[in-house]
Amino acid sequence: MIVNMRKIGILTGGGECPGVNSIIKSLVPKCLVHDIEVYGFEKGWEGVIEGNYRQLGIDEVDESHILGPALLESSRVNILKQSDAYERCKTIIDNLGLEAIVVIGGDDTLGVADHFQRKGINIVAVPKTIDNDISGTDYSFGFDTASYVATEAIDKLHTNAKCNSRCFVVEVMGRNTGWIALQAGLAGGAHVVLIPEFPRTLDEIAGIIEDRKQNGRFYTIICVAEGFDLEEMHIDYNSLEKDGYGNIRMEQKHIGATLSNLLEEKTGIKTRFSVLGHMIRGGVPTAFDRVLGTKFGAKAAELIIEKQYGYMVALQGSNIVPVDLEQAIGRKKVDEGFYHAAGYHSYQY
Ligand code: F6P
Repeated sequence: MIVNMRKIGILTGGGECPGVNSIIKSLVPKCLVHDIEVYGFEKGWEGVIEGNYRQLGIDEVDESHILGPALLESSRVNILKQSDAYERCKTIIDNLGLEAIVVIGGDDTLGVADHFQRKGINIVAVPKTIDNDISGTDYSFGFDTASYVATEAIDKLHTNAKCNSRCFVVEVMGRNTGWIALQAGLAGGAHVVLIPEFPRTLDEIAGIIEDRKQNGRFYTIICVAEGFDLEEMHIDYNSLEKDGYGNIRMEQKHIGATLSNLLEEKTGIKTRFSVLGHMIRGGVPTAFDRVLGTKFGAKAAELIIEKQYGYMVALQGSNIVPVDLEQAIGRKKVDEGFYHAAGYHSYQY
C-alpha cells in the first residue's frame, strides 16, 4: 500500500539550552508512526533561509537526550533583517512540501515564528530558554539545569567564604530577569539575591554585610543576576555590543566585578567575585529538563498530528497545554510573590 507521507520541519534557535534534544527525541518517532516525516533545519531560522536541512530518523534521535549539544545546532541570526526573508523561507518550505514548522526557541526565535505564522507559515512552537522568561509557560526547559549548576557553584563558594571570612559575589545569567539568580540563590543559601525586578541600593547591600558581621557572621554570599543594575555603575548601554535581535551582551556590564569592588571599598571586608557565565547552560540536562522536554515534544507532535497550528506548548501547573502563540510570547518577570516568599526583600538573618 502506498502511503502519502505528510512532512514537517523542525528547528532550534537562540542560545544553548539543556534538554532541547529530548523534544526532538520525543517528537520524531511519534510523527513517524503517524506517517509524518520530520526534516531538521540546522542553526535555527538561518537553516531555513539557507536551505540547510536533513531528514531525521529514529537512529539519530534515539540517544540524543544524554547529549549536551543541540542535535540541530542553533544560532541567534535574525533573518528578519533580510527584506525577502519570508519569501525565501516560504519557497524552501513549499519546495520541500512541509506543511508546518516546529520552532523551538526563546522570545526572539518565537517572535520570528509568530511573524511568519501571520503571513501564512503553519507553526507549532516550543518554549526554550534557561532564563525562564517566556510569558505563556510556568517553566521552560533548560532553566532547571542552569539553576542546578549555579546552585552547586554557590554551595562550593560557601566553604571558601566562611573559611576566609570573605564576601562572595556570584554573577549568573538571566538576561533582563532574575529567575535563575533567585532559584539558585535560594537553593544555594545565598544571603542576598539581587535581581533586575527588585532594585536595591549599594548602601542597603553593604548594610546587610555589616549587620551580619556585627552578629558574628563574617562572610556573606551574594547572588546577582547579570541584568541587575546599580545607580553607582553609570552604564552607557548604547556603547555595549548587541546581538541580531538588539539584546545587549550582558556580561559586558561586569556587574559581579563592579559590585564586588564597590562593596569591598564600602565595608572594608575582603570581597571576591565569580562569574558563572555560559558554564551553567552547558553539559547534560537534569532529569526535570529531560522530562519537560519529552512532554513538550509529545504535545507538539499531537498538535501536528491533529493539524492544530499557531500554538505554543506550555507548562501550566502540572499540565502541558497549547496556548495561542501570539499571547504566549513576551518576557515574563519574576513575580513579587516568589521574591517575597524567598525572603530577600527584607533580609533579617
Ligand atoms: O538567553 C539565554 C542566555 O544564556 C542569557 O541568559 C544570556 O544573557 C545570553 O543567553 C548569552 O548569550 P550568548 O550565548 O549569545 O553569549
